Amino acid sequence: MKKQTFLYALVILAFNCAENKKEVATTPKYVEESHSYAKPNEAVIKHLDLEIDVDFKTQIIDGEATFTIENHNASEIVLDTKFLDIISTKSNDKEVSFKLGTFDKQLGQALSIPISEDTKQVTIQYKTTANSEALQWLSPQQTADKTHPFLFTQGQAILTRSWIPIQDSPQIRITYNAKVVVPKELMAVMSAENPKEKTADGIYNFTMKQPISPYLIALAIGDLEYKPVSNRTGVYAEKSMIDKAQAEFIDMEKMVVAAENLYGNYDWDQFDVIVLPPSFPFGGMENPRLTFATPTVIAGDKSLTSLIAHELAHSWSGNLVTNATWDDFWLNEGFTVYFEIRIMEALYGKDRANMIALIGRQDLEEEVESFKDDPNMTKLKLDLSDKNPDDGMNSIAYDKGYLFLRTLEEKVGREKFDAFLKNYFKTNAFSTVTTEGFVDYLNSNLLEPNNITFNVNEWIYEPGIPDNQSIIVSNKFDDAKTFLKVFLETKSVDTSTTNDWTTQEWVHFIRNFPETITTYDLKRLDDAFNFTNATNSHIAMVWYEQAIRHDYHGNGVDQKIEDFLIRVGRRWYVSTLFKAYKKADKVDEALAIYKKSRPNYHSVTVNTIDELLGYKNQ
Ligand code: BES
Ligand code: ZN
Repeated sequence: MKKQTFLYALVILAFNCAENKKEVATTPKYVEESHSYAKPNEAVIKHLDLEIDVDFKTQIIDGEATFTIENHNASEIVLDTKFLDIISTKSNDKEVSFKLGTFDKQLGQALSIPISEDTKQVTIQYKTTANSEALQWLSPQQTADKTHPFLFTQGQAILTRSWIPIQDSPQIRITYNAKVVVPKELMAVMSAENPKEKTADGIYNFTMKQPISPYLIALAIGDLEYKPVSNRTGVYAEKSMIDKAQAEFIDMEKMVVAAENLYGNYDWDQFDVIVLPPSFPFGGMENPRLTFATPTVIAGDKSLTSLIAHELAHSWSGNLVTNATWDDFWLNEGFTVYFEIRIMEALYGKDRANMIALIGRQDLEEEVESFKDDPNMTKLKLDLSDKNPDDGMNSIAYDKGYLFLRTLEEKVGREKFDAFLKNYFKTNAFSTVTTEGFVDYLNSNLLEPNNITFNVNEWIYEPGIPDNQSIIVSNKFDDAKTFLKVFLETKSVDTSTTNDWTTQEWVHFIRNFPETITTYDLKRLDDAFNFTNATNSHIAMVWYEQAIRHDYHGNGVDQKIEDFLIRVGRRWYVSTLFKAYKKADKVDEALAIYKKSRPNYHSVTVNTIDELLGYKNQ
């Protein structure tokens, strides 16, 4: 790759010297990266017309992808594929023979299609396979309503190539149209303009007119209904979930308004959320116009909806201004956590915002500790060459990224910082940014004009957490800690103190049990607060973690943990619990559960847990 870029630069240089008498080479538009075979500086996709048939019986998608391309004198265009059957390819409607490169277990295979100067379009006929990692096909039993099957895709980070042959780099931006054929009883929705009702013939036509990165192309198919929350926000879910979803997300319009007031107009017209079956591997995924969400966010009291604020915030940080490579992932997630917490503050006040921030601060502490033998992984800017981008998708990007921006805000003052961010989003809208590009932008638009010195390089390019970090305080959490202290000393439980606690206080309380807490204490707390039967997924998860860690078996908690791990595929929850088993030297117990739960998980969760538990698939 390096060699090619160099040659390209030489060609440009020669051209410029001859034609324009410029002395410096124009830098290529796309930077080098390690997670895509594409050579977009030579030939790049601009638009996708996708036609697919979705067969639930064979669990195969039969597709034809036609790309409108821009050719800069290349003789072939290179796309990414993984676990696809490539049937035939065309250049400008004429069948041409293609080449598939050697298979790499991270990246898949390069697909090269010959093109000429006048090639405007290439077409690929293909089928997905049982290994196509983006796809999770669910049986009726794995859905909320239990009567129809379901399918969803997960593209981020490099999985789109396993269901569409594509130049799968976040630097690429395309618009798309899609025609999707599904069984008549089901409805299809995408990260595009969506139907609000089922069609009679199971044929759905989609348009995505805003250019997006390939990892944001998404599809979900199921027995879905739609309910609006406002004229530009709403929810998709199965029948048994739709009213709960609508009630839980009733503040969505207010969130969009708060976000717009902070950092500029919402550029995607519609903001809907689809509540997926519980095996969905993430809390949420910011697919443009249609966020995909786990049903575990539905707590009944709106207490976990910062997740919606988070995915909404990605409409600016991530979808509008996109990390150029996965080494720059913190630009997506760190900014999004910052923005999420600002939205939460605008809607619900500083107390709530600081509690969310402090929970993240503790996650960060634990993540830094877990990388004590590999401190390079605690840098914001990563080097993930030869690694799966997933390896960088941890609390460092999110919570160290957040802490950096919060510290910076405190240093320059909120007013200047907000004006800066708003401009950053506007200037870079619908394009991509590298970490280095951001640092330049920050220096010339915020720090230098205001004569501010700040240790930006230490924050971004060095491991660990710099000393000038903002200190986050929460009186509410201090009260929760005091309550814990009093309980441990006196063993008395005064429920009048905890009456007005929110989810965040409970989570903080439970997570901060001392190492020495006894099973007797745990039983007393469980009897008083019924943690084992908590319906709030976050509270349940941190309680189960403590039960595993401290060998607590009261009130049927073991069965609850097993049921939870079998039903829920959200990677963050599942991996927290399996890590707890591992830390407590209970890998055998973990494996016994994992054998039962694994078939229920999406490939991204499977990959993480296989590695964590050293599971070998027989
Ligand atoms: N974009 C991420 C999900 C993701 C990360 C997908 C890495 C693939 C690779 C999404 O915005 C996210 O961060 N989700 C969080 C929720 C959030 C409130 C922190 C999650 O899934 O837990
Ligand atoms: Zn995110």
